[in-house]
Amino acid sequence: AEQKATNVHWHDGEVSRDDRQKLLKQKGATLWFTGLSGSGKSTVAVALEKALIEKGHLCYRLDGDNVRLGINKNLGFSAEDRAENIRRIGEISKLFVDTGVIVLSSFVSPYRADRDLVRELHDQSDMDFLEIFVDVPLSVAEERDPKGLYKKARAGEIKNFTGIDDPYEAPEKPEVVLNSHEMSLEKEVEVLLEEMSKRGII
Ligand code: PPS
Repeated sequence: AEQKATNVHWHDGEVSRDDRQKLLKQKGATLWFTGLSGSGKSTVAVALEKALIEKGHLCYRLDGDNVRLGINKNLGFSAEDRAENIRRIGEISKLFVDTGVIVLSSFVSPYRADRDLVRELHDQSDMDFLEIFVDVPLSVAEERDPKGLYKKARAGEIKNFTGIDDPYEAPEKPEVVLNSHEMSLEKEVEVLLEEMSKRGII
């Protein structure tokens, strides 16, 4: 997005991200879960959140439906609105990371360019960004259809539904791939905890 306001400048305080991270004994990071509706993004984020808190790590979950009921209530599912949805969530994730918190962001985020922008924003601020592709075949997600949305999309009652009449662009170099139809939830959490530990996040 272009910078609209002029004469605005960043102000540093007297406490740094590093000070906050020391206080929390962890490194802030964004784990970005992307995948089809019904792929299991939220399920694994919820389980990971629980495991992290049990280990004494402060984390926070940002989730599609929740964010769309609040800060992004003025956005729909056009390509433009999805891009703005993801951009805002990227910036919100960064605020949490700067606080020293581990952010678990689960969004369909179907467009590669939108996810790449979020990665870029993190890179620019020297923040960890892990793209986690929750990869299941469309047939599996459609079979699960937890909210009955695929059924509606097939019936033409929902337009621009990801995987049906709107594209899902799979990540090219995700840090982690989870095949939630072939892996247990416990295993998924284990893989993620290991990856975080390897990177010195926890
Ligand atoms: S996006 O594409 O990243 O901006 O989407 P997100 O904010 O994650 O919201 C996706 C959830 O909204 C429901 N929903 C739709 N998804 C995709 N396409 C269309 N047209 C659509 N309409 C509603 C859907 O339940 C998604 O939730 P999850 O939890 O992923 O199933």
